[in-house]
Amino acid sequence: MASSSCFLRSILFSSPTNLRSNHHLPTFFPKNYLICSHSTSSRFESLSVSSIGTGSTKKSSDTRRKVKSMATTNIGKEEKKRVEIYDLEENLVIDLAKFTADLSDKFCKERGAFTVVVSGGSLIKSLRKLVESPYVDSIDWARWHFFWVDERVVPKNHDDSNYKLAYDSFLSKVPIPPGNVYAINEALSAEAAADDYETCLKHLVNTNILRVSESTGFPKFDLMLLGMGPDGHVASLFPGHGLCNESKKWVVSISDSPKPPSERITFTFPVINSSAHVALVVCGSGKAEAVEAALKKTGNVPPAGSVSAEDELVWFLDKPASSKL
Ligand code: 6PG
Repeated sequence: MASSSCFLRSILFSSPTNLRSNHHLPTFFPKNYLICSHSTSSRFESLSVSSIGTGSTKKSSDTRRKVKSMATTNIGKEEKKRVEIYDLEENLVIDLAKFTADLSDKFCKERGAFTVVVSGGSLIKSLRKLVESPYVDSIDWARWHFFWVDERVVPKNHDDSNYKLAYDSFLSKVPIPPGNVYAINEALSAEAAADDYETCLKHLVNTNILRVSESTGFPKFDLMLLGMGPDGHVASLFPGHGLCNESKKWVVSISDSPKPPSERITFTFPVINSSAHVALVVCGSGKAEAVEAALKKTGNVPPAGSVSAEDELVWFLDKPASSKL
């Protein structure tokens, strides 16, 4: 699968949830999003459990995280946007694992491959349940194709490397074929590494591993798992940076990243927003203001507010991160 000079190395849940449609929300909640609030309150213990991740509903005897299930309001085209709010980060990561595993199952069966993109930062830690039972044994890892939405141009064994971060706590624990793990060629300059990664993606389109969006012509990844910085950046697309407006290239380099290290490559918004499914995973009170600005579109809307998906965009928030909604 390795191509060009690209270095080819190389989610079941239930929750005590109070599902609320926009209908019943105070006006300060983001419009056109379905808000799902998950709490651990025991008063929901006998309620049925809604599997929000894939829209299915099932009963569960798990009393740790019960979901108060209610019908999803039909909000037309905007149904694809959802905000999940969790009392406990632990419950967030359990649901994120199921969300990812369900999509893996669907795409592996439908198209024999699952193209997954990750960011760096705390996102990788949020994937920790995937490397545990039952997922570590049940996911069809051989069909996974693993990419980075952004990468720092540093050696792979460097502490700043997103490859190293993902390898140490995720890739080293699951049997994804090394040839299906698409790391950047960090021996190149940032600019050349970005071109090289784009060439790699084009090869994968030609070999039908990677789909192309019919509406945009950009690659259509099956699932993009993104974190968000306290300033509201996603990938290496920072507030006010010209790269946020790139409309033609798939992968670009940045040499003045405000978050060190400065030399990076990053997917562009047209690529991110052509994904079938996008999960934005955000935890901590330090990100509450950016979450508010991104979702309510208030003030200077940060890059995270420009994220969309072709099929489904889900924000996974813990309570502190959602505190200003
Ligand atoms: C990077 C990341 C970046 C990250 C956010 C959030 O390489 O810097 O890909 O986009 O996802 O900065 O990071 P935290 O979750 O650690 O705050």
